[in-house]
Amino acid sequence: MAKKWNTENIPSQMGKTFVITGANSGLGFGTTKELAKKDARIVMAVRNLEKGKRAVQKIKKEVPNANLDLMKLDLGDLVSIKNFSHEFLRKYQELHVLINNAGVMMPNSKKQTKQGFELQFGTNHIGHFTLTKYLFPILNKTPNSRIVTLSSLVAKMKKADIYWNDLHWEKSYDKMASYAQSKLSNMMFGIELDKLLKEKKSHVKSVLAHPGYTATNLQQHMGFQGIVMNFLMAQKIEMGILPSLRAATDTNVKGGEYYGPEKMSNWRGFPVLNEINVMANNREITKKLWGKTEEFSGIKFEI
Ligand SMILES: NC(=O)c1ccc[n+]([C@@H]2O[C@H](COP(=O)([O-])OP(=O)(O)OC[C@H]3O[C@@H](n4cnc5c(N)ncnc54)[C@H](OP(=O)(O)O)[C@@H]3O)[C@@H](O)[C@H]2O)c1
Repeated sequence: MAKKWNTENIPSQMGKTFVITGANSGLGFGTTKELAKKDARIVMAVRNLEKGKRAVQKIKKEVPNANLDLMKLDLGDLVSIKNFSHEFLRKYQELHVLINNAGVMMPNSKKQTKQGFELQFGTNHIGHFTLTKYLFPILNKTPNSRIVTLSSLVAKMKKADIYWNDLHWEKSYDKMASYAQSKLSNMMFGIELDKLLKEKKSHVKSVLAHPGYTATNLQQHMGFQGIVMNFLMAQKIEMGILPSLRAATDTNVKGGEYYGPEKMSNWRGFPVLNEINVMANNREITKKLWGKTEEFSGIKFEI
């Protein structure tokens, strides 16, 4: 067995069903391809079916027997999330792993989701919260199931906070702070979910992961700075997907753990346990965020 955790450590995933959001690009695409090689059945949840079809073709070129099902999901639209979930529950009897992967980062001007939430908070956090709520019943009835949520290095950086007085950036817009809020919210969601699951003695695990700094489409709005940083600092997608893959498949993983790269202050390297932002362990804050998110999404999420 390899010393550093890598894809050789992943056992056969035959018989397991995964849902991966944002599976057509970057880390979602890489994660899908790797799991397809391990014989998993993967539902690729994408907002653009044409892009999705191209991604399926690309994977099938490398993995001809890939077991892929393309389904439409726009995390920026609560109605689309509901429709996706109903369709999924109609088609599938089991869900072993949900990977809350999709994300948007730092659009230059403030943008909104269909229901009027700021785009990053709305898509990255409220969208995945809502999706997880709808899919929870099937995860709960599938043995050894998990929910993997992607956070980020920025969730521990200077601007990482929950901006309670202006959660949707109506008074002012700071694209970096807004992205950081959304990724800290992902972290708080994953940690609070883990605690709720443990309180209910549920077998479902909630695990967190982040890819360090990986060159993908995510940096598309960063302009020249993004190009330079991708050239100098970024690791390849093959490395960036390892934390998600470990969180999703390693049988030794425990609920509430956070996997990310080992080296260079967790920017690069093989996946190991990383520390969360201490704010995510503050129950008063995580419960408040949970309640607010229930309000925004219009659904109660009880375990
Ligand atoms: N790359 C990094 O260094 C890094 C670092 C920390 C965290 N992350 C996190 O990793 C995750 C994956 O990002 P990536 O780097 O792979 O970026 P990416 O290549 O841009 O992929 C993002 C994916 O999310 C999808 N997406 C965006 N908005 C969506 C929506 N409303 N509904 C459904 N899907 C939507 C995109 O679809 P389209 O192709 O249609 O746009 C794309 O498939 C994100 O959560 C990101 O925050 C990445």
